[in-house]
Amino acid sequence: MCVIEKGPIIETRRLTLRTPRIDDAARIGEFCGDYAIAKMTTRMPWPYSRADADGFVARCQAQDRRHDTTFVIELEDEGVVGVMGFFTPADGHLEVGYWIGRPYWGRGVATEATRGALAWARSDWRKKVVVAGHFADNPASGQVLINAGFLYTGVVEHKASAARGESVPTRMMVWLA
Ligand SMILES: CC(C)(COP(=O)(O)OP(=O)(O)OC[C@H]1O[C@@H](n2cnc3c(N)ncnc32)[C@H](O)[C@@H]1OP(=O)(O)O)[C@@H](O)C(=O)NCCC(=O)NCCS
Repeated sequence: MCVIEKGPIIETRRLTLRTPRIDDAARIGEFCGDYAIAKMTTRMPWPYSRADADGFVARCQAQDRRHDTTFVIELEDEGVVGVMGFFTPADGHLEVGYWIGRPYWGRGVATEATRGALAWARSDWRKKVVVAGHFADNPASGQVLINAGFLYTGVVEHKASAARGESVPTRMMVWLA
């Protein structure tokens, strides 16, 4: 029998975070076609094709949710506006990353989603430590992480950005449950 695992759902004042579905791929592809998003992430390719979006959704649905969990972020009355993902690198701590579609920037969506996701990670997923890094030229993401309770570790790593095709100084932060 094929069991479809729906995955966790997180609800905040304006947002619902849920497992990506294949019918989300078109909207994900539209937002991620924006270089302003891709260049601030480590792994997102650019240009970003519909096949990239389909592959992303398929990988999210196949995740081992003990270690990795990715959500689309739905804003009330708007539908999907972004993505938030927790992943565990082979050699490191649980890490969080996110992006919000450009039309929705500056409305507190990333902050609300990050706070909601961390509350869920602590209470339901039983995680105690989450790390995050933002490129040094992305202070808005640093502010989101500060507002959600992360602290700077003082460590600056050089992380590859697929979209930029080079490594970028990355300010590392940590959140403790
Ligand atoms: C960074 C990003 C997630 C922010 O999303 P958002 O929903 O607009 O964020 P919010 O509205 O919740 O919060 C943005 C915060 O950054 C602040 N900010 C915006 N531009 C800033 C800048 N140039 N310098 C410092 N702070 C800035 C805002 O004032 C706000 O902080 P405040 O609530 O204390 O006033 C979004 O721009 C994005 O997806 N960017 C591309 C992908 C990306 O950067 N992902 C994160 C990788 S680490």
